[in-house]
Amino acid sequence: MVQLLADRADVDVVAMTRRKLPAEALPPGVECAVADYADPPALRAALKGVDTLVLVSSDGPDARVLLHHRNVVAAVVAERVGHVAALSSVDADSASPFCYAVVNRLTEDLLLASGVPCSFARASLYIEFFRGWLTQARSTGLLRLPAADGRVSLVARDDVARALAALAVGGPTGRHHDITGPESADLAGIASTAAEVWRTPVAYVDIPADTYCAETAATGLDPWWLYAFSSLFASVREQRWDQVRDDCAQLTGRLPRTLRDVLSERA
Ligand SMILES: NC(=O)c1ccc[n+]([C@@H]2O[C@H](COP(=O)([O-])OP(=O)(O)OC[C@H]3O[C@@H](n4cnc5c(N)ncnc54)[C@H](OP(=O)(O)O)[C@@H]3O)[C@@H](O)[C@H]2O)c1
Repeated sequence: MVQLLADRADVDVVAMTRRKLPAEALPPGVECAVADYADPPALRAALKGVDTLVLVSSDGPDARVLLHHRNVVAAVVAERVGHVAALSSVDADSASPFCYAVVNRLTEDLLLASGVPCSFARASLYIEFFRGWLTQARSTGLLRLPAADGRVSLVARDDVARALAALAVGGPTGRHHDITGPESADLAGIASTAAEVWRTPVAYVDIPADTYCAETAATGLDPWWLYAFSSLFASVREQRWDQVRDDCAQLTGRLPRTLRDVLSERA
């Protein structure tokens, strides 16, 4: 994201990170501001004189993420930032079973209620995120997940970054934009694409949610992530990630990449 914005001649970029970076770690001309979403005074200092904030959502337990986003909104209002281009998700709905769908919707509502001009990039699931499960399946031959016949419009992470950058440099749109991949597939289709690219058998096996929890808990995964992933697959089963939109191409001027494109790069 920082590189995409730094490549433009018409904007000055400040990269906010949690620890001071040496100048050589950033593109030429990019300043560094140090702040944590948990630290309101540092956020205010980082946002002084900023016209547009690109808000990359926080991560981890949902209550903490929401607190981080509240801190950011308060600092944005206090420092009179002119536009927030915020990352959200296609499933941004307080009625969703997915924990981050609720957080993302509450964050959008907070920003809208604050009166600050906004634009929202609602991303589908990242290919790079989903690849974690595909990589496991590559060695076992089985993609065992509780997704039923849920379909997902997987999107490349850098296509999301390009769309968010385009929103940041445009004027506030006051609405959300659905940043999806160019196609949607069920998990059998996703497994079959991975199998073709990798030339190895990968088959989807739909498993009950409680079996997924028991199998995943046995791997030692942190309980928060077990809950987060279980709630994600509950939202997949409700077909909340199925939609395909052309907002990404409209914002970036290029077609988003397919799952096959991304997997082929590192086959
Ligand atoms: N759609 C999906 O499939 C999907 C999947 C996973 C996550 N997500 C969401 O998308 C976000 C971005 O994902 P990504 O893969 O692009 O993550 P990433 O490369 O790790 O980038 C996260 C950025 O957020 C900053 N950040 C995180 N916690 C922070 C805090 N407490 N205070 C200040 N800055 C903080 C990080 O700053 P530092 O430079 O200090 O590390 C980093 O710049 C995630 O945070 C999560 O909300 C979406």
